[in-house]
Amino acid sequence: MKTKIVYVGMSADLVHSGHLNIIRHAASLGEVVIGLLTDKAIASYKRIPYMPFEQRMAVVENIKGVSRVVPQTTLDYTPNLELLKPDYVVHGDDWREGVQRETRQKVIDTLKQWGGELVEIPYTAGISSTRLQAAIKEIGTTPDIRRSALRRLLQVKPLIRFLDIHNALSGLIIEHTAVDTPSGRREFDGMWGSSLTDSTAKGKPDIEAVDVSARVQTLNEVLEVTTKPIIYDGDTGGQPEHFNFTVRTLERLGISAIVIEDKTGLKRNSLFGNDVPQTQESIENFCNKIRTGKRAQATDEFMIIARIESLILDKGVDDAIERAQAYLAAGADGIMIHSRKTTPDEIFAFCERYRQLENRKYLVAVPSTYNTVTEEELQQRGVNIVIYANHLLRSAYPAMVETARCILEHHRSSECDARLLPINDILALIPGTR
Ligand code: SPV
Ligand code: MG
Repeated sequence: MKTKIVYVGMSADLVHSGHLNIIRHAASLGEVVIGLLTDKAIASYKRIPYMPFEQRMAVVENIKGVSRVVPQTTLDYTPNLELLKPDYVVHGDDWREGVQRETRQKVIDTLKQWGGELVEIPYTAGISSTRLQAAIKEIGTTPDIRRSALRRLLQVKPLIRFLDIHNALSGLIIEHTAVDTPSGRREFDGMWGSSLTDSTAKGKPDIEAVDVSARVQTLNEVLEVTTKPIIYDGDTGGQPEHFNFTVRTLERLGISAIVIEDKTGLKRNSLFGNDVPQTQESIENFCNKIRTGKRAQATDEFMIIARIESLILDKGVDDAIERAQAYLAAGADGIMIHSRKTTPDEIFAFCERYRQLENRKYLVAVPSTYNTVTEEELQQRGVNIVIYANHLLRSAYPAMVETARCILEHHRSSECDARLLPINDILALIPGTR
């Protein structure tokens, strides 16, 4: 009798006894082919795996009962099933609800075409990847793993989103906030070390008055309690001779990238545009700074992203594109294009031209003023990273002022209580408080 083919799709990031149980069952039915989800396939509906595909492959192909491993490049099983025409698909019964529901139905329908069958194994109680992941998060990460996380994300996701940090608590919000949607779990991919919100939280203007040591102190606070990657807002990067040290410091901490903007002299916040005196750096000087930073790097993963202020300073798309070309040629790992217009038109115009550059690298957008644009619209035009640059601080401030006013008006706090985090919740917010 012909050996039956048994197909098992899995991510196998944190392999546990539940996986082995499924494979054991599958092996009792025939020859087991594992469809190992690629990093991209996993990232399409949940957090990217801890272990890259090759490492997961090395583990799975050595599990007893596995006959071979093939990549499954989409969450959808259909392409692999049509190719292999297995007699059985074996899966845990935990996919009947949630994001994988439709995937499951498609598996049943596809198998029907050749009389194949879906076999579901009761979920192994007491162990789950979700709980293992929570435990791993609690242990934390290392500078090496965190630093390389940005490049890994960019390789497997078409668009990643970052949100501002200005203290450890803002970092924790970015680390843990998630929404479940029909197409999977959505969360922020990482943190933007904003100069505006860090300076503002310290009560200082955003003019590089908060020095690198103080900025690094904020980073350290955040690094201590989070695991997601950080892109650091390096303002102008300072003198090239100083920039060297900043790059090394950030790399050592496990920061993934620095963004430096092509301004010189006293830096003012970009959202002022030409309402205040701001001078753009010459292409030559800025390229020199990029080269200095790239030479200073101790690792291959760290990224220096060049931020172009041409649109901020009303110099037009032609100037922005000329600069993009020069900065890329000088070694920049990506370009941030900024705008303070209320519509995305000039950003779209830049994207259109940027797309045609042969040596283009990652593109970053900061939709603070043109905030009706969606992530999908930016992605369609080639943007890889969207930064929500100041939204956490901007949401916290009015809430705090309102509470202060409320207490003053009522001579007590009872009237504002409904808007506050309950006492029990604040005590439970940070693990270990009790
Ligand atoms: C920041 O967040 O500090 C930025 C972005 O640099 S912006 O404030 O728009 O200049
Ligand atoms: Mg800034």
